[in-house]
Amino acid sequence: MNKLTILEFPDPRLRTRATPVEAVDDDLRALIDAMFETMYAAPGIGLAATQVDVHKRLLVTDVSADKTEPLCFINPEIIDREGSIITEEGCLSVPEIYAKVERAERVRVRALNRDGMEFEIDADGLLAVCVQHEMDHLEGKLFVDYLSELKRQRIRKQLEKNRKHRETVEPSLGAGDHAPVI
Ligand code: NI
Repeated sequence: MNKLTILEFPDPRLRTRATPVEAVDDDLRALIDAMFETMYAAPGIGLAATQVDVHKRLLVTDVSADKTEPLCFINPEIIDREGSIITEEGCLSVPEIYAKVERAERVRVRALNRDGMEFEIDADGLLAVCVQHEMDHLEGKLFVDYLSELKRQRIRKQLEKNRKHRETVEPSLGAGDHAPVI
């Protein structure tokens, strides 16, 4: 097992702006594999390198129900966007908190794959939301930044309370019927 530790809000390291990946090599592929493992175990449908304290422009997703659509985006860029959609989002770095966020409904993304080859993908629905959410992480941005300062304060307090609770009680990690955790 090669699970990585996920940073949690308000950890200041989540505010780091990631720099471009310069070489797609075996070290990077090992990191990608560990990120997938960490994301699936969490469980979540997306994970940005920023969240595991690696400040490189890299993210992984799998929005399928049966974990059969792993996608890896290295140095991703959104080259086209269209429409808007409001969905309830969660985030592995802001556990148990959900909020509605507005994003582009469709995006065209250009990135490198795990072999260092450039590809483009048209994403819509959940994948579009997920990629935009993860790309925010690479900029040091969190979905709670779209909310009011008052709401963010409340979330910070709630997370502190949850963490204390987690220390005293065995965590119940049952995935509820909740919004996607990205
Ligand atoms: Ni997230």
